[in-house]
Amino acid sequence: MATILGAVTTSHVPAIGGAIARKLQQDPYWKPFFDGYPAAREWVASVRPDIVVAFYNDHGLQFFLDKMPTFAVGAAPEYRHADEGWGIPTVPAFRGDPEFSWHVIEQLVADEFDVTTCQEMLVDHAFTVPMSLLWPDTVDWPVRVLPIAINTVQYPFPSPRRCYRLGQAVGRAIEAWDRDARVLVLGTGGLSHQLDGERAGYINKRFDLMCMEELVRDPEALARFSTVDLVREAGVQGVELVMWLAARGALTGAVSKVHSNYHIPISNTAAGLLVLENRTKAAPARAAA
Ligand code: DHB
Ligand code: FE
Repeated sequence: MATILGAVTTSHVPAIGGAIARKLQQDPYWKPFFDGYPAAREWVASVRPDIVVAFYNDHGLQFFLDKMPTFAVGAAPEYRHADEGWGIPTVPAFRGDPEFSWHVIEQLVADEFDVTTCQEMLVDHAFTVPMSLLWPDTVDWPVRVLPIAINTVQYPFPSPRRCYRLGQAVGRAIEAWDRDARVLVLGTGGLSHQLDGERAGYINKRFDLMCMEELVRDPEALARFSTVDLVREAGVQGVELVMWLAARGALTGAVSKVHSNYHIPISNTAAGLLVLENRTKAAPARAAA
C-alpha cells in the first residue's frame, strides 16, 4: 500500500535557483527566506519519502500558448530541466516511475479527470527550485518523481475547486497503488504576486496569511474562490495558489501543520512555505524509529 506522508507547499521564484548556485543563503536579503527551509528538510528526512508527486505550473518551457493542456501528468522514465532564460543553472535529471504514473493516470481518467499524458516532459523552475530547496546540492535526487502540471498561464484556467478536486483524486489514486511506497506531495507557486501590468509588484499579506491558515483548517473555503477572486486578491500570478490547493486535496487523513514560513519579498513575490503532515489510520506518517 502506498502511503501519503504529507505535503510541502512552497513558492518557486526562479531567482532562488540563482541564490542557491551562488550560495547566498546567509546574505541579508535571502536569509529570512532560506531560514525557513531547514525545518522542512528535517521533516522530509524524518518521513523518508521515496516518491514525490509535484503539482506545479509550466511557464513556457514544455508547453506554450499554442498547445496548453489544462492538466498534464508525467509518465516518463526521466524528466529533464533545461535553460528557460532566467540565467539559473540547470539541475540534474529526475528519475520517474512510469508504472506509478500510469496507475495514477488510469485512476484519474476513471475518476473523470481527462488528463494529458506526457511520456516526455521537461520540467521548469516551478518544479526544480522547490526540489533544490528540499534537497540542496543534489547530484542524484534521492526520490522518484511524478510531475503534474496545472495550466495557470493561458486562459481559461481550471477553477480553484477543480484543482482541489484533482488533488483529491490524486490522493485516492496514490492510496490505491498496490505497492509499498512513501509518497510526499509538493505544491509549488504563489503566494501573492503580479509580474506585469498596472499592478506589477502587487502583494497582499493579509490574504496570503489567511490562505496559509485556511489551507490547513478549511481548504474547501479556499476552493470556493473563483479564478477572478484570486487574481483580484493575490495578483495575476497569485493564482498559483491553486497548486497549494491541489497538494492539500491529496492529503487523505488528519492534517496538521508541522512548519511554516512567510517572507516579503523574494523578487516580486510573497514567498510562503507550509509543511503539512498527513495521518491516516492505516499508516502513521512517521515510521517507528
Ligand atoms: C517570479 C515568480 C514566479 O512565480 C515565477 O514563476 C517567475 C518569477 C518572480 O517573482 O520573479
Ligand atoms: Fe511562477
